[in-house]
Parts: sequence; structure tokens; C-alpha cells
Amino acid sequence: MQRDHMQERGSPSGRPGCEAPVASPAVRGSNTRHRWVALLRVGLPALVVVGVALSAVSSAGAASSAGAASGASSKSARVSSAKSGSASGAGYGSGFGTLASPRRANHKGAASPITTLALPKSYIAPGRQLFEENCSACHGPGALGTSRAPNLVGLGAATVDFWVGTGRMPLADASLQAVPKPPRFTKKQVLEIAAFVTSLSRVNGPGIPVVDLKGADLAKGNSLFVLNCAACHTITGSGDALANGYVATSLHPATATQVAEAIRTGPGNMPRFGPGEYSNKEVADIVAYVTGPIQHPDNAGGIGLGGVGPVAEGFVALLVGVGGLMLVAFWLGDRS
Ligand code: HEC
Ligand code: HEC
Repeated sequence: MQRDHMQERGSPSGRPGCEAPVASPAVRGSNTRHRWVALLRVGLPALVVVGVALSAVSSAGAASSAGAASGASSKSARVSSAKSGSASGAGYGSGFGTLASPRRANHKGAASPITTLALPKSYIAPGRQLFEENCSACHGPGALGTSRAPNLVGLGAATVDFWVGTGRMPLADASLQAVPKPPRFTKKQVLEIAAFVTSLSRVNGPGIPVVDLKGADLAKGNSLFVLNCAACHTITGSGDALANGYVATSLHPATATQVAEAIRTGPGNMPRFGPGEYSNKEVADIVAYVTGPIQHPDNAGGIGLGGVGPVAEGFVALLVGVGGLMLVAFWLGDRS
């Protein structure tokens, strides 16, 4: 057997140039089968390794490109938002509509699914009082900022509504990240505070979005979410830790308005997605996907697996599938 092998490779006793004797048909047949089995034994695990490596590379690529995008766009987007806010001369309370690029927002003449909440002038006076009692100690009486808290003048009603409406503000004490908690104010009081803050400047950022989800495209929302949000918030929206102790919070408690506000204003370490990135229609698609399948998963068409996310679910599939293939390979190997 040993000798046959050597001869077949054409260099008996290591002497090059010698003619190998032709192996008998029986020997050749058994060698072919052995080679098939060896191929299976080596090839299948190799395939698995390549597959795992490929999937690791592709997910790392997605994560790093999302990270890079967030790093780059969050800072520059903030600057450009301030710029476009002043350039467009958006009036008080009308930022959301005005900031949207007319070409994309009015695409095909369809009405925008997002409108801006109008804040009555009568809200300003009670808002000023609430602000002085709850916010000025940190943000200053005219909201111009202090060493403890940033300037709020020029921020849109959407930003104020998001931070106060999700309970992030008022901040109890200086912590690493203002966390969502049960809001201290009623919905109307939040709007009054927003009306006061936006009354301090003629030019403000986006107003409070009212999202009409009737014509929303869930499939589009799904693909935009997977591409642009899942890297930080996970595919199930349950949130995840980012670098430096920051957390991409869970999307499950957010209202439609708050999701749209987060997208357009980029709270904390989240990048801001302006009208240049998403039209109002696309924002509505994402909002519909988040407030629909993300917040109310029915696990249709798959095993729930506790909703732990794509990595874990993929890994289970890998384990079961590859485990099965290995068994087949070893069974084939044992038979011969
Ligand atoms: C104890 C101090 C404190 C109090 C009180 C407080 N804030 Fe803040 N606020 C902060 C700090 C600090 C930040 C920056 C937090 C961050 O970026 O994570 C902040 C951020 C904000 C932001 C986001 C600013 C931006 O550029 O994105 C808004 C809006 C805001 N506060 C509104 C309010 C309002 C309205 C109140 C009153 C209801 C209030 N805050 C009360 C300290 C405070
Ligand atoms: C680079 C990471 C990152 C990406 C990408 C990202 N977010 Fe966020 N998001 C965050 C962080 C961090 C916070 C928490 C901000 C804070 O509390 O200071 C957050 C907060 C939110 C909130 C507020 C939830 C709450 O606590 O009430 C919503 C809603 C949200 N994001 C939606 C989205 C959507 C939709 C997308 C995709 C279009 C997206 N995010 C993309 C990091 C990210």
C-alpha cells in the first residue's frame, strides 16, 4: 500500500526522473475513493472556515463603515445643520419643513408624510416660567448656556421636545450620558418649554415632526434601518453599548415623533440624518418600521430565539447546519 502510493506519485524512493510503473486498476479505484473521502474531510471544514471568515469580515465591515459614517457625519452634520438652519431663514416652529430639501421632499409632487407642529404664541409665557424653575440653573436664564450646560438658543423645537419628552432633561446631576426616564412634565408643558426656547431666536433647527404613517413603505424602512441604525441599536432595536461607556438606547419606548426627532436632530452620540441623507418619506418609512415590527415583533417566519439578534441567530444556524454536514462527512468517511 505504502509502496503503491509512492509509485503513483511518480518518484519511487525519491529519485526524480524515473518512470513510475502503472498501478493496477483495483489499486487505482480504491485510491480514488480514498481521495474523495479525504477531500470531503478536508474540504468541508475548509469551506466552513472560509464561510465564517467571510461573514465575520462582512459584519466587521458593516460595523466599521457605520462607525466611520457616524464619526464623520455627526460632527459635520451638526455644523451644516446650524448653517442650513440660518441660511434657509426658517421661522419659529417651521424648521422641519423648511430644512427639508424641496426637491426631495416634494418628490413626484406627493404630499410630505411629515408636517411640523405649530406652537401657539400663548405657550411662550408659561414656557418661560417652567424654564426658569427647572432649566435656567444649568442652561442660564436666557438659555445661553453656562459652564454646566450647553447653549440652547437656535435649537429647534424638535430637539427640546426630544430631550424633555424622553425625560433626559432636566438632568438630575452631571453624568456621562443623560438617560431616558419618566418625563417630569405633561405633553403640553413640554411644548410650552419648546415654544419658549424657540422664541429666543428668529432662526431655529427642525420643528416637532408629526408623522403620517399611512403610506409608509415597511420594506424600505426595514432596509434603511438595517443599513443605518442596526449597527448601533441592534437589529431588534434593543440597544447596545458603544465606545466610552455611551449607550445606544433601546428603541422600544420611543414614539413616532421621538424616532423622527432622533433621526433629524441626532441626540448625544447619535449621528444626525438631515434631509440630504433621508427625504421626509424615507424618515416616515423608518419610523413606521421602528414603531411597527421593531416594537411589536411577531416572530413570523422564524424561531424567536429570544430576539437576541442576528449574530446569535446566525450562529445557531451555523452550528446546526455545519454540525449536520460534519456528521455526514464523518459517516461517509467511516463507510469506506
Ligand atoms: C443639572 C443641569 C441641567 C438641568 C437642570 C437641565 N439641563 Fe439640559 N443639559 C444639561 C447638560 C449637561 C446637557 C448636555 C448633555 C449631553 O450632551 O448629553 C444638556 C442638554 C440639553 C439639551 C440638548 C442640547 C443639544 O445641543 O443637543 C436640551 C434641549 C436641554 N438640555 C434642555 C433642557 C431643558 C428644557 C431643561 C429644563 C426642563 C434642562 N435642559 C435642564 C444640563 C442640565
Ligand atoms: C453611531 C451610532 C448610532 C446610529 C448609527 C444610530 N443611533 Fe440612534 N442613538 C444612538 C445613541 C448613542 C443614542 C442615545 C443618545 C443619548 O441618549 O444621548 C440614540 C438614541 C436614539 C433614539 C432615542 C431612543 C430613546 O432613548 O428614547 C432613537 C429613537 C434612535 N436613536 C433612533 C435611531 C434610528 C432610527 C437610527 C437610524 C436611522 C439611528 N438611531 C442610528 C446611536 C446611534
